[in-house]
Amino acid sequence: MQAVEKIGLVVANEDSPNTNYFLFTLNSEKVKKGNYVVVGLENKKIVGQIIEIYWTNRYFKSHEIIADLSSTGGIENFPTEAWSYGLAKVKIVGLINGEKFERCFFPPKCGEHVFLASVVDLKKVLNLPQKGIYLGKILHHDIELRLELSKLIGKHLAILAMSGAGKSYFCSVLLEELLELKKEDGRIATIVFDSHQDYTFFKNSQYSNLVEVIDGKSLKLNYFNLGVNKIAAMLDLGSRSRFLLYKLFRYIKQKKKKEGCPTPTFEELFEMIKKDEVNKKTKAALLEALASLKGFKFISNKDNFPKASYPAPGKILIFDLSSIDSLEQKQLIVHYFLAKFFNARKKNKIPPSLVIIEEAHNFCPEKEKASAALSRDIINTIAREGRKFFFCLCLISQRPVHLSTTALSQCTSNVILRITNPNDLDHIAKSSESIDSDSIKFIPGLEVGNALLLGDFSRFPIFLEVRKRKSQEQKISKTIEQEAKEFEEKQNQLEQELNLYL
Ligand SMILES: Nc1ncnc2c1ncn2[C@@H]1O[C@H](COP(=O)(O)OP(=O)(O)OP(=O)(O)O)[C@@H](O)[C@H]1O
Ligand SMILES: [Mg+2]
Repeated sequence: MQAVEKIGLVVANEDSPNTNYFLFTLNSEKVKKGNYVVVGLENKKIVGQIIEIYWTNRYFKSHEIIADLSSTGGIENFPTEAWSYGLAKVKIVGLINGEKFERCFFPPKCGEHVFLASVVDLKKVLNLPQKGIYLGKILHHDIELRLELSKLIGKHLAILAMSGAGKSYFCSVLLEELLELKKEDGRIATIVFDSHQDYTFFKNSQYSNLVEVIDGKSLKLNYFNLGVNKIAAMLDLGSRSRFLLYKLFRYIKQKKKKEGCPTPTFEELFEMIKKDEVNKKTKAALLEALASLKGFKFISNKDNFPKASYPAPGKILIFDLSSIDSLEQKQLIVHYFLAKFFNARKKNKIPPSLVIIEEAHNFCPEKEKASAALSRDIINTIAREGRKFFFCLCLISQRPVHLSTTALSQCTSNVILRITNPNDLDHIAKSSESIDSDSIKFIPGLEVGNALLLGDFSRFPIFLEVRKRKSQEQKISKTIEQEAKEFEEKQNQLEQELNLYL
């Protein structure tokens, strides 16, 4: 099949057409920013992407005349409309030479016809597979986008956008695709840290038997598994107390290994500290700090995570963190289970996994000190080492500027939806290798549900119209007015009920 629709003619300006860019006059309303276009004969076509569309009109370039005519009301008598035409700026991406796609060393000639790229052309350009997970259609082209899962998540994925742009929606489309994988496709396990119950609806969907939701508030963590560094950061331990704790933990570890005994209770640990021969001051300081650790209800000497809930092929394990107020507690849960599961994955005890972290800037912040970023180390470690063990990350954030550059720069795949904040755009441009300055300019103009995809799965950035979700979210999104009305009605009802008894 060949591109059929003529949409304009290549024109000249001071420095184009050149090997990077060309301009063409528009004669079709169908043309949109982001469209791929081709110029040339059947077997040799220059391919480019429209990066900007302008209107121009020489008539309106003479400011003095226009100002004069508009003040005297004479402008209607002049044929200004006839001078008005559209211009599209195209970034050249390469040359289709028969079945091959090559670099382009010569620009198109002025006066050549420009066509909309056909499906066949686009498949050659983007190098898309026939099979794979289905995320939606290429924006403004009627082409289904299928991607190889390993190329999308294998080297970690970041989903970045401002609030309300469709990050969680896109992620739930991805989850649906994972839930529909068959054994013969290779099913991975998925672990989701869900801050706002964005995914708990899956439990009430057609996929319910593949989904497990764990209420974060009910979880208890084994203090020994948190490790000395985490406890020291949490409790702000001085170097002497930290050293003493190291000594005790080393002793407990050896005992556990030799005798298989459980983690000592806090009381037993306190006794061990009291018996140690270090000076009284250090012992008192450590005892005081550990007493505050004991005060946390979610910390104990054993965890209550059931063996049956371990990540399993084709299943999704959701940690619902929405009812926990303390960020510290949420970070500790993320740290604890990531360390546990990463370790299990290294020993091949759980299947290859994808870990989805919503609000990732809260769990892996760039600038916070260690005591306010308790899950940062493990996330950065997985970002650096996870791919070797097929333990992949999907970081979701509406504030990329606050997200650790170490983690973000390890995410080879990026799904970027609408972002308008210039600091966030700048941060993405600096931390992502695959994004260029022309693609960055598209991001503020994206509509809800449209995304820019970058990564090893395609030679060039792809603009995607995210497909509709198959499962229904139960959550009803209310407006502030609806909520306010309901609040007042409830108050009135309460008052009336109270009056009945007075
Ligand atoms: N592809 C889409 N098709 C249809 N509706 C969509 C699509 N993407 C997003 N929406 C709608 O837009 C709204 C916001 O989407 P979503 O909750 O995914 O945003 P978000 O980026 O996760 O926001 P936040 O940062 O607040 O979590 C939702 O009501 C959702 O239904
Ligand atoms: Mg969201």
